[in-house]
Amino acid sequence: MNPGIKVFAPASVANVAAGFDILGFALERPGDEIIVRLSETPGFRITQITGAKGKLPMEPEKNTAGFAALKLLEYLGETGRGIEMEIHKKMPFGSGLGSSAASAAGAVVAVNELLGRPLEKRALLPFAVLGEQIADGAYHADNVAPSLIGGMVLIRSNKDLDVHRLPVPKGLYAAVVHPQVEILTKDARNVLSDTVSLQQCIEQNGNLGGLIVGLYNSDLELIGRSLNDVIIEPQRARLIPHFYEVKAAALDAGALGCSISGAGPSIFALCANSLVAETAGKAMSKVFTEAKIGNQVFISAINQEGATKC
Ligand code: HSE
Repeated sequence: MNPGIKVFAPASVANVAAGFDILGFALERPGDEIIVRLSETPGFRITQITGAKGKLPMEPEKNTAGFAALKLLEYLGETGRGIEMEIHKKMPFGSGLGSSAASAAGAVVAVNELLGRPLEKRALLPFAVLGEQIADGAYHADNVAPSLIGGMVLIRSNKDLDVHRLPVPKGLYAAVVHPQVEILTKDARNVLSDTVSLQQCIEQNGNLGGLIVGLYNSDLELIGRSLNDVIIEPQRARLIPHFYEVKAAALDAGALGCSISGAGPSIFALCANSLVAETAGKAMSKVFTEAKIGNQVFISAINQEGATKC
């Protein structure tokens, strides 16, 4: 069998406190693996999905990775090309770690590589976002963009996919704890109120602006003060058991700031270095463990590569 091309696409943390739907960063681990190979049978097919406990559809039109690949192939005029795809899920879904986004990002990079790289990586973004839209019904790139291009990414406009990489202070590390509680992004979006007060808007803008200035100036204290979500976190916290205890544990352990990763239930903390991240990760995990909730911790620098051939 021809070995094909294998791509690793990393998990990501969306929102990063004050940047609901417009800010996200990529982790080094975990991530999904996508394998594609040419086949003599015309058309695109998904031949294998592992790690999904049978929960993901094999029909390309209904699968985030499959749909993203189909949209890219359509754009390239290559829908007749015989291509087989394997999807190896290496992270839980419904976790707030951008699982569907990683599969979509990995799929477009893999297909693009297989066809001799007709597009630049950034040009693959619209197709990957369309794929992820299948999972939660909303069109936003705050998981897909970092998973695809890596780094801390600001999306000025989701409609125009006007995306910008932000600098990250040297040594910045994330601790992410994933409790075994499933929250579907769709449900976590449905609990949100359509309206925000003027005061909340002012505070949230201040925090988002402060975070960006802190990242540009490597000002860790400013980053810490700005990792503060006054709109979304208070509405979603009740979906995550022990959220405020976990957050307090991370801050007590020296994290700069802590909030919900994407739609949850994962919780992330940004830390000045890997040592603090290890300590914060252990403290966060302990809260869930003591509450008899199974959990996994990921300690990671900010992944600057995004989805890559491996
Ligand atoms: N920004 C999205 C949310 C990320 O919080 O709903 C999850 O898809």
